[in-house]
Amino acid sequence: MTDRKLNSLVNEDKVRLAIKRLFTGAASQIVGEILQNARRAGARRVEFTTTSFTKPSGEAENKIRVRDDGSGVLGGVEGWRAMLCIAESSYQDQNVKMEDPLGIGLHALFACDQVHNVTIRSRGRKIEIDTGLWWTHSAYYSTWVERLTVDERDAGEGGLELEIECDPKFIEAATRSLTSTDDVFRSPEDLPARGYEGVIEIRLNGEAVDTSLMSRFVHREPCLIWEGEYLGNRLRIAHGPRSCVNWYGQAVEDHLLDGGFSYYLEVRTGTPLDLRSPTRQGVIRNGKREALRRFIIDKIFEAVNGAPIEEVKIEWARGLYSLDPERAEAEAKYYVAGKINNAAEAEFSSNEEFRWMEEEVKSYGREEVLLLRRGVTVEYQDEGERKRLNYQDGIETFVEDLRNAHGEPYELIVGTEGRLRVRELIWRPRNVGKGIFVDAGVFALSEEGSEPQEWHAVTGEVFTFSAPSTYDILAADPLVAAKDRYAWLRSYSPWAVFDPEGAEDRVSTCADSFEKSIDDVIMYEFPDMIAEPLSLSDLSGRLGGGRVTNIHVVWPEKGRPRLRVTNERGEETELKMI
Ligand SMILES: Nc1ncnc2c1ncn2[C@@H]1O[C@H](COP(=O)(O)OP(=O)(O)OP(=O)(O)O)[C@@H](O)[C@H]1O
Ligand SMILES: [Mg+2]
Repeated sequence: MTDRKLNSLVNEDKVRLAIKRLFTGAASQIVGEILQNARRAGARRVEFTTTSFTKPSGEAENKIRVRDDGSGVLGGVEGWRAMLCIAESSYQDQNVKMEDPLGIGLHALFACDQVHNVTIRSRGRKIEIDTGLWWTHSAYYSTWVERLTVDERDAGEGGLELEIECDPKFIEAATRSLTSTDDVFRSPEDLPARGYEGVIEIRLNGEAVDTSLMSRFVHREPCLIWEGEYLGNRLRIAHGPRSCVNWYGQAVEDHLLDGGFSYYLEVRTGTPLDLRSPTRQGVIRNGKREALRRFIIDKIFEAVNGAPIEEVKIEWARGLYSLDPERAEAEAKYYVAGKINNAAEAEFSSNEEFRWMEEEVKSYGREEVLLLRRGVTVEYQDEGERKRLNYQDGIETFVEDLRNAHGEPYELIVGTEGRLRVRELIWRPRNVGKGIFVDAGVFALSEEGSEPQEWHAVTGEVFTFSAPSTYDILAADPLVAAKDRYAWLRSYSPWAVFDPEGAEDRVSTCADSFEKSIDDVIMYEFPDMIAEPLSLSDLSGRLGGGRVTNIHVVWPEKGRPRLRVTNERGEETELKMI
């Protein structure tokens, strides 16, 4: 065994093979590596030229030629060795050295199954690499110097040229990666040129390639929160788009901020962050990234807290509480409140519409906002016993009375309760009995369960219920104070309870069942009424039992008919059809 073999504790052939497998083989990834290398070598222009034709001999020729105007391969043979050696890197630029290149990017090209041959030309020298032999034939790769020859064509000029002989499929994919439009399905890795604007000019077959930033990263004016510098690089903070580090042209997506906030850091100097090698698929989570996060969070808090209330968007006020919940609890200047829907003014056909709220930004400690907990606490006497029940829904029906007594009512949506005064609504209806109807009674506001001082008469039509229901209004235990009880049951008010969301049945099936349950309530509450379709036993029930022996239909001049019903005992009643 030779000394070299004895000292080496890696099996070179196998390691080379393992590295080959690291690459996805995607043309877009390879194009990305080529652009990155050109930029690191100081290039301002990169030209791609594709050729596909069939020679007279019938042999097909498919090639991509890539030329850049960077430094080319410097340092003679040693420079060429750095280029071809796995995990060896050599660039002049100090910034690039700080990026700590791994020295494997170019090998993505050699590793691609669709690439057969690569000729590299630079500064009067050239080398041809047969990719089929490159990875495992040590007799081939270890004798590369012998194939480094003079390239007469190109003497004196700087830059570097790659001539890639490949399958037509590879040309198609590389072309797509440079020309596809950016839509929601494409990631930055799919479109490697997008981001190089102002860094390198890219051309494909003589035409300019779009190098602008992908739209998912663009911070447009209305969503911009802050703009400035971070360690000498341009930083923008916004709410809405996705976060991106533009790494000397390479757009890298990041997920650093919660609450819908995002940043765009355009790195043009130094290494304010570290990026993953070799394909820069993400930002390394280290101290640098944490420092950036803190910096951004500071700026967001400063900007949002410093903005006048008219300029603060609901998403910002809400977002602070996800971005840094603890800090928001202590420092946020704004919170989000929902203006409680006024049931008397609104139209609704389901619980969702009934509960709908318009959100507003409010300021801690500025004007006093009437904040109420969702729900209604109902207190009443039942056979001498005092009952206290919490109903989840129905505060919307008290809005008119609340406005007159206290002001516009709101619910706290996102904010710190400890810094605010949040009260609950207590309703004391009268004559709570078996049915759903009660007398209006009085209401008051209470703070943390303390006995309210100020009671007000309930003047509007109000109702509460324990929870929304899909099929049956009675399942929601409604309590209703209405002047015209029949009209209430016939209005859209009962539909405030209806919630078909998440039911297995179709909405129409749920609605039919719910409607039937309203009719049942009508029949119970109004014994002189009967709903269609009717049955003999319904009619018998109205007479307290006994076989029905006669039904006489009375048609009034206007409106619905009445039924005069007689049973076997000779008892008679008249029922209104509803
Ligand atoms: N367009 C180019 N112009 C000049 N030198 C180049 C060019 N492309 C590659 N090189 C040389 O080849 C070396 C190897 O390139 P390779 O892409 O494999 O690794 P790297 O760029 O150093 O690191 P990384 O693994 O991050 O890509 C580079 O360090 C550089 O010296
Ligand atoms: Mg590289």
